[in-house]
Amino acid sequence: MTDRLHYGTTAKIFHWLIVALLFVQYPVGWLMPDIHRGMKPGDAMTLHISFGILILMLIVLRLFWRITHPVAPESSLPPWQRLTSEAVHWLLYALVLAVTVTGWLFASFRGWPVSFFFLAPLPMLSSESASAGRTIDGWHQAAGWALFVVIAIHVLAAMAHIFIYRDRIMQRMLP
Ligand code: HEM
Ligand code: HEM
Repeated sequence: MTDRLHYGTTAKIFHWLIVALLFVQYPVGWLMPDIHRGMKPGDAMTLHISFGILILMLIVLRLFWRITHPVAPESSLPPWQRLTSEAVHWLLYALVLAVTVTGWLFASFRGWPVSFFFLAPLPMLSSESASAGRTIDGWHQAAGWALFVVIAIHVLAAMAHIFIYRDRIMQRMLP
């Protein structure tokens, strides 16, 4: 398959939809009440879990789209920027998967009855286990922070292309 030179409309919609959802997801994650022994998930937690599962579904679809519709890095970039941008992009996919799957596992180990946007019960991935829950909670938080740092690097790189290099990299992801 020959690589396309530009991102198509579908890739752009996936990109900006996931950006918007992450923009909601982090504040909800930080602001929702801390969990403690025996508690049941409140509305903020149900929303966090539902947005998280939606992000998981979108990133899986997007990854499938990315693999079936590969896009070549901008040819004017120096080789080190082509390599590092590709690496950061794959890392972003991997970390979104890691955060969402650890979150879902954590909710499963707590044995919570959770719904997807208050509409239908969410299937759980495992049976209840308090000790596994504690471990995976740490992983969810670590993966969340790692994703946050890599997003910051990605956004700073985009800003560098707008304000320092003054090239057309940002235009590749705009309508
Ligand atoms: C990309 C998607 C996600 C992001 C960015 C994210 C981010 C976060 C953040 C920032 C917190 C707060 C951690 C803290 O207190 O320091 C959190 C907690 C939590 N998340 Fe997620 N999350 C995501 C997806 C999910 C999913 C899919 C689920 C479950 C299906 C989930 C379940 C939870 C639970 C149960 C907590 C509470 C853990 C605690 O307070 O220690 N998350 N998440
Ligand atoms: C304001 C925030 C953001 C800006 C300005 C931005 C900008 C861009 C730009 C310009 C590209 C195209 C780079 C190229 O030409 O190769 C891109 C690609 C990409 N961005 Fe972002 N981005 C932002 C947020 C995010 C976030 C939060 C994620 C988290 C998942 C993300 C994930 C990706 C991925 C995975 C690609 C590569 C697409 C592919 O090749 O499949 N971006 N972004």
